[in-house]
Amino acid sequence: MADPSSHALVVGGTGMLYDVSLNLAARGYATSVIARDPVRLEELRARAAAVGGRIEPMPVDYGETGSLEVALRERRDLLGPPGLVVAWVHGSAPTALPTLVRWLREEQTAARLVHVVGSAVADPSADSADELTSKLSGSSIRLQTVILGFVLEGEAGTQRSRWLTDREISAGVLRAIDSGSPRSIVGQVEPWHLRP
Ligand SMILES: NC(=O)c1ccc[n+]([C@@H]2O[C@H](COP(=O)([O-])OP(=O)(O)OC[C@H]3O[C@@H](n4cnc5c(N)ncnc54)[C@H](OP(=O)(O)O)[C@@H]3O)[C@@H](O)[C@H]2O)c1
Repeated sequence: MADPSSHALVVGGTGMLYDVSLNLAARGYATSVIARDPVRLEELRARAAAVGGRIEPMPVDYGETGSLEVALRERRDLLGPPGLVVAWVHGSAPTALPTLVRWLREEQTAARLVHVVGSAVADPSADSADELTSKLSGSSIRLQTVILGFVLEGEAGTQRSRWLTDREISAGVLRAIDSGSPRSIVGQVEPWHLRP
């Protein structure tokens, strides 16, 4: 079986994590990318290949548990289990992350899961219990949470806030991967009331 440390998986890797997918491929990871649109996946694969990187498309709807499980098993047979997983998953697919985590646990290899989340988790009024942390307890999976915040621009008094760009998001996620920090914020989440 292939060395897990050389296989990375990016869930949602053709969107705002596009540069993360490309960068991991450039670092030498065989990089699996989950998304539905095969055209965008092929464009990403070709772009990485042009500079010697390897991106392996996984065209699957992560909301369809059976299809996702099949795709993950097939990918394990091809490249071994991933040692690094970066996941941006929409809340409209609540089964996707638990399916991914169950599969990673079953593989029983050490892995790092970089979970990218929206700024709502930083809402002081929100319930901060982290379900994922409890799902991972006792496993060899190390969780890193990356919170996407916002940007404040301009002089004090006339400041305006905006959401992050795709570039800023990918750069922030890569910084978090490099730092190994269990919790990072891209941009800022405070003062919370100044979010866009
Ligand atoms: N705090 C912030 O500033 C912040 C936070 C979040 C988002 N944003 C911005 O909002 C914009 C839109 O965000 P977005 O949530 O649409 O993210 P996105 O990363 O632009 O797109 C979602 C990614 O997930 C894939 N995907 C979506 N549903 C899927 C499914 N059911 N199965 C498999 N893959 C799936 C998409 O590919 P397919 O469509 O081909 O499946 C794509 O690769 C982004 O451009 C980002 O810059 C900003």
